[in-house]
Amino acid sequence: MFSISKMAAGVQPSATLAAGAKARQLKTEGKIVYDFSLGEPDFNTPKHICDAAYKAMLDGHTHYTAAAGIPELRGAIARWYKRTYGFEFSPEQVIVSNGAKHSLHNALAATVGPGDEVIIPTPYWVSYSDLVQMTGATYKLVPTTEASGFKMTAAQLKAAITPRSKLVMLNSPGNPTGSVYSRSELEAIADVVVETKLGVISDEIYEQLVFGNAKATCFATLRPGLANQVITISGVSKSYAMTGWRMGWAIAPMHVTKAMGNVQSQETSNPSSISQYATIAALDGDQACVEVMRKEFEARRDLVCGRLNALPGIRCPIPDGAFYAFFNIEAYFGKTLKSKKITDSTTFCSAALETVHVNLVQGSAFGAEGYARLSFATSREQINKGIDKLADFLQG
Ligand SMILES: Cc1ncc(COP(=O)(O)O)c(C=O)c1O
Repeated sequence: MFSISKMAAGVQPSATLAAGAKARQLKTEGKIVYDFSLGEPDFNTPKHICDAAYKAMLDGHTHYTAAAGIPELRGAIARWYKRTYGFEFSPEQVIVSNGAKHSLHNALAATVGPGDEVIIPTPYWVSYSDLVQMTGATYKLVPTTEASGFKMTAAQLKAAITPRSKLVMLNSPGNPTGSVYSRSELEAIADVVVETKLGVISDEIYEQLVFGNAKATCFATLRPGLANQVITISGVSKSYAMTGWRMGWAIAPMHVTKAMGNVQSQETSNPSSISQYATIAALDGDQACVEVMRKEFEARRDLVCGRLNALPGIRCPIPDGAFYAFFNIEAYFGKTLKSKKITDSTTFCSAALETVHVNLVQGSAFGAEGYARLSFATSREQINKGIDKLADFLQG
């Protein structure tokens, strides 16, 4: 007989994965579902990356590797940051893991535990709070608003810090809002971090998916010495359409990388050898594929926001990055749509899925009631058809 541990009992299943599973269930029942719930590019991994994986297999790179990743990949990651941001660090400060989510877990497991507090601005990516809780630490949410572009100010951060605060989690470009902090907004946050000696986990997984004039900033580079207080997280899942390869990384001060490596060596040994070789090809190879996908995401963003903002009662701020529209649906609370009473974002999203088979994720899952998230990592045809259905739903 087993009882469930306190840690496992406290973990919520990922709301986005749960939404995807619901949609798959309807599909197996023969329904056409417009699935806007998942955070993964619909593109296939570019061929030169797949070729590198195949070559790695043929070359016999099919064994365990060093727990923190092969030196060639850690070197390729260090080169990429130097090229992209002028950020210089030793490849030994890099630890490669099974996706950025795993990197986040290792980073938290290595740095916080019971009695510690982690600051998370909301809306936030669904996994952050559970990943924090799994370490025994607690989290403190700092609410942001649509009016501030869903961005936490330096003053808000400063006010949230208590003697128990160990870390703040930043995510720009962000999921679910697509908000991109400007360099000066991040500099102001960096100054608070330096002054208060707070640690930072900066999740920059969407850094290559920015639109218009928006620019991604590598937080660790903003002030001299700041990198000693920052764990930078990223990976190839979103920019190179490589979600299934499970490749993410962290760049941290050496003693943190070492601790994360110890955790990882006991959890999963090493990340997939084949995926590591594919990731070298992604980072060192031709980057044209990234721009092709980025441009398509930008065109879809314009399509989605244009169409959503044309719907009565819907307000969709324009995201500057990532591939999500996070739109306000409060005008429908208290109404009945297709015989379903809408009281909040959860009832809105389940009614949309059940009645017109449009799958969105409720804002409450991201700590922001009153909104729904639509992932535009799907074809323009699906977007148009799905939003036609949503329009029908909103007519009641
Ligand atoms: C903000 C954010 N960080 C990290 C991840 C995880 O990425 P990976 O698939 O590499 O684990 C995601 C995926 O949805 C994300 O949205």
